This record gives sequence, structure tokens and C-alpha cells, in this order.
Amino acid sequence: MMASMLFTAEGVTKKFGGVTALDNVSMSIARGAIFGLIGPNGAGKTTFFNTLTGLYQVDQGKFTFDDKPLNVKAPHEVAQVGIARTFQNIRLFGEMSVLENVMVGRHVRTKAGAFGAIFRPPSVHREEAAIAARSHELLEYVGLAKRAGDKSRTLAYGEQRRLEIARALATDPKMIALDEPAAGMNATETIALRQLIERIAGDGITVMLIEHDMRLVMNVCQHIAVLDYGRKIADGTPAHIQKDAAVIKAYLGGAHGEPAATGEKA
Ligand SMILES: Nc1ncnc2c1ncn2[C@@H]1O[C@H](COP(=O)(O)OP(=O)(O)OP(=O)(O)O)[C@@H](O)[C@H]1O
Ligand SMILES: [Mg+2]
Repeated sequence: MMASMLFTAEGVTKKFGGVTALDNVSMSIARGAIFGLIGPNGAGKTTFFNTLTGLYQVDQGKFTFDDKPLNVKAPHEVAQVGIARTFQNIRLFGEMSVLENVMVGRHVRTKAGAFGAIFRPPSVHREEAAIAARSHELLEYVGLAKRAGDKSRTLAYGEQRRLEIARALATDPKMIALDEPAAGMNATETIALRQLIERIAGDGITVMLIEHDMRLVMNVCQHIAVLDYGRKIADGTPAHIQKDAAVIKAYLGGAHGEPAATGEKA
């Protein structure tokens, strides 16, 4: 029986000049799943996130989200449809506090908007306390409550990645898309990240995970799609993906420079 799908991509193609970053890519994500999107460097993973979140428009193909066409024209619109993301290159307001960075995410959902979060005209004060309280809860959720008052630039790299997740969760998404959340994390932080991802999914938020840490991907994901040179070369369970000849060839072929950052099996 087919699980109910939250997200579907059909025949998505995106070109940058002569580079076909995404070549007729289709995939589906079941509601509540932890879905992995993997592939060698330059395979098109981030471009896939960028197209579905409205940073770029596709050349061909379409997305469906929550039983409706997903047609985001600009990145700020994506939170309204229930999708949140983090970035491969961390994007935080370094001079703002950890709490304020989460509040910016929360303000996307309010009348005052992100502008109000930054400039605080008197009209936003009523909403402010509720937003701060919810943002504090989210900092507890990701294990950063003790750092709430610190400037975000003072956080360690792994903490900044968790802060980005808290800010994304602040928009109350149905799906969160994480672009290499384990990058720069040590083994202990990565274990905590795995628990956080499982908790997010357990709370009913579908997770789409781009990650080079194969141990994490194989342990946490129920379903994985593999991109290589913009094309989907495999799709299935972790056990299936680990045995797939095309996947092994893509990672060990050497044409992309480094193979997987961590090549261990789960
Ligand atoms: N804005 C852009 N302009 C031009 N080319 C781009 C742009 N964004 C991505 N590309 C190209 O598209 C291809 C896919 O890049 P993308 O960043 O999606 O790969 P990736 O799978 O996320 O790789 P990595 O694992 O290194 O992050 C690459 O050849 C890249 O150079
Ligand atoms: Mg990328």
C-alpha cells in the first residue's frame, strides 16, 4: 500500500548555463518520514532544495506539497506553505542573540513579520512575549536554552547548526529540509543531532536530509534518493542503497574528487 505522500517532485530540471544541475528528477516523501538526499559533491542536492524553496525557478517539472501544487516564487513565501530549511552555509544574524535569531523565524508567521522582529515598532510588543516564550521552548528543544542571551556568532559551529534548526522549526513547518546539518560536528554532536532529527520526525514534522555523513544517513533515514551529476541514480531503503551498484560507482568513481566524507556502513 502506498503511504500518503507529503511532497512530490516530478521531472524537475534546472540548468545553470551549460551545467544541468538537476536532470528530470522525480521523488516522493511520505508524511512523517525521514528522507535522505545524498550524492557526491556537485550532484545537485542543494540546487534541489533551492528550487523547491523558491530560491531558483525550475526550467521544467513540478512539485506537489500537501496535496497542492508547490509553486514558490520567492524564498520568503515558502514558510507560509509549511516548509522550512537550513542552509549549507550557515545564515544567522551573528550580532543578534541566540533567542532573537529564533524569534526572526517565528515572526515569519506573525503580522509584524521579520521586519518587526528586527526593528520592534510598538505595535509588535503584544505579540512579542508569546513569541519569545515559544522561541525559548525551541531553544530548549535543540539544547541551546543556556545560550539564549549570547550573540549567535559566539556559538560553536555545531551549536550554530542547531540554532538554524530551531529557527526553521519556529515557522511551524510540516516539512523541514536540512542541508548538511552534521557538517563541522564532532561525533558526540552528531549523535545528538541524530536524536534531534528523530525527535522532530516523532513530533510529526517530515524531514528531508542532505548529508555526507553516511553513518548518520543510513541510521536515521527510512528512505533515500541518490543524485549524481543532476540525475537520480537510485531510490530506496538504506539497505537497498548500500548495495546499489550505481551508487557505489558514483561514490568510488573518483571523478568528483573526494568520495563520501565518512564511508562507514551503518
Ligand atoms: N547559482 C549557481 N550558478 C551556477 N551554477 C550553480 C549554481 N548553483 C549550483 N550550481 C552548479 O550546479 C551543480 C550542482 O550544485 P549543488 O550545489 O546543487 O551540488 P550539491 O550536491 O549540493 O554539492 P555539495 O555536496 O558539494 O554541496 C554544480 O555543478 C554547481 O556548480
Ligand atoms: Mg550542497
